[in-house]
Amino acid sequence: MKNETTIPEELKKRVLEKIRPDASERTRLLAVQVELAEKVNRAAETLGIKAVFAKMVGSAARGTWLSGTHDIDIFISFPEETSRADLEKKGMAVAREVAKTASRIEDRHAEHPYLNIIYKGFDIDLVPCFRVASTSSLKSAVDRTPFHNEFVKKRIKGLEAEVLLLKQFMRGSGVYGSELKTRGFSGYLTELLVINYGSFENTLKAAASWSPGEFIDLEAHASLSHPDPLVMVDPTDPKRNVAAALSLDKFCLFMASCRAFLKDPTFEAFFPVPVKPLTEAEISEKIKARQSAQLALSFKTPDVVEDVLFPQLYKSEQAAVTLLEEYEFSHLKSGVWAGKTKTIILLELISNKLPKVKKHIGPPVWLSSNAEKFRAKYEKKEDVFSFYIEKGRYVAEIKRKYPEAATLLKAKFPDCPLGKHIGKSVRQGFEVLENEELLRLEDPGFRIFLKKWL
Ligand code: UTP
Ligand code: MN
Repeated sequence: MKNETTIPEELKKRVLEKIRPDASERTRLLAVQVELAEKVNRAAETLGIKAVFAKMVGSAARGTWLSGTHDIDIFISFPEETSRADLEKKGMAVAREVAKTASRIEDRHAEHPYLNIIYKGFDIDLVPCFRVASTSSLKSAVDRTPFHNEFVKKRIKGLEAEVLLLKQFMRGSGVYGSELKTRGFSGYLTELLVINYGSFENTLKAAASWSPGEFIDLEAHASLSHPDPLVMVDPTDPKRNVAAALSLDKFCLFMASCRAFLKDPTFEAFFPVPVKPLTEAEISEKIKARQSAQLALSFKTPDVVEDVLFPQLYKSEQAAVTLLEEYEFSHLKSGVWAGKTKTIILLELISNKLPKVKKHIGPPVWLSSNAEKFRAKYEKKEDVFSFYIEKGRYVAEIKRKYPEAATLLKAKFPDCPLGKHIGKSVRQGFEVLENEELLRLEDPGFRIFLKKWL
């Protein structure tokens, strides 16, 4: 493994010029951060709430944010002994007081409520948390974050540019973001990878030969095992895997991207050329060429955040596949796409038609009572094509109830386990489109999605 390719300095420099915040951006972001922290402290004072103050966390507080991303995370830290009800009530009161000068305010809800505001062009989360003594006494899921901040700040000095390169490379590869839609790498995870491997390049070289079950424990303190493809034991919490949200496919996509890049390091790996939507002619041509069956379930996008929508969507996708397989339609693949107005579950089947006859296997002939019931029900009946014994069992060839996949989905999909919001939307109305009918879905975003699909 000696004399491996090194990534050209020139290339890293060219990328960093685009992603490293310059002095004026840094000054501006820092100023807004400090200003907001002071606002939080003052708001707590105004409202007579004692021992509550602001903590600056996230990439903005660590110098690892990508230029142009304007996201600031401010935590409103309450004493450990505060009750949850008080934290929510007083925390939101402080946040709302701060938000008085914001240009947009949005109530959000993760494990507990927080406020998202736009202030001076920055996208700011104001998140109430408990100031716990250690991560062994967490009172809410966000209480770990200030510990992350302390750990990273201690160890990241001098490696910020490496983190930026890795974040941008992951973005270019489509694996950055731990949201439930992406199921990729979080910002904190990229920082820990750089801390562990020492540089952007070393991380890529290591990842090129990862395999599922990869295990990193910076503090050598793991106290639980995890079934995940990548285990990065949280240096601030021995029980937690920082990479718990990473899916096997995103783990592998990252590995594949690392290999390709190390063979041929290009600028486009960081900034891929945007994909153009397929044209109508291309779509019909590709559908014809494949000779399979495309089926799209289309319904109105529920008005919920992506972290709520996507788990339901993946669940509904699985439900559609299970339904089809249960009725003997074999599928090649399934996928989901969600736009502003429409959401699509896409299915590719070996065929969307099955014969009118269905083989219905009954009990072994020697189990006389069951066998007799089966025989009485099917033998010499009008709707039964034929009746015989095979491998010791009665078999009836009966009429298939759903010889067409689209009819099956129209009848049965709304009764599948779809999750609350998707279930409601589907039951209010949905369409099943087949093959060429996919052309009716005109959203350019969907046609970009189709490019990979077809
Ligand atoms: P962010 O999602 O804003 O990440 O969460 P980030 O580290 O600031 O990275 P970018 O540059 O904005 O993409 C803020 C903090 O919340 C905690 C981490 O400590 C993170 O730094 N967090 C967030 C997690 O622990 N896990 C997550 O999945 C998300
Ligand atoms: Mn952030």
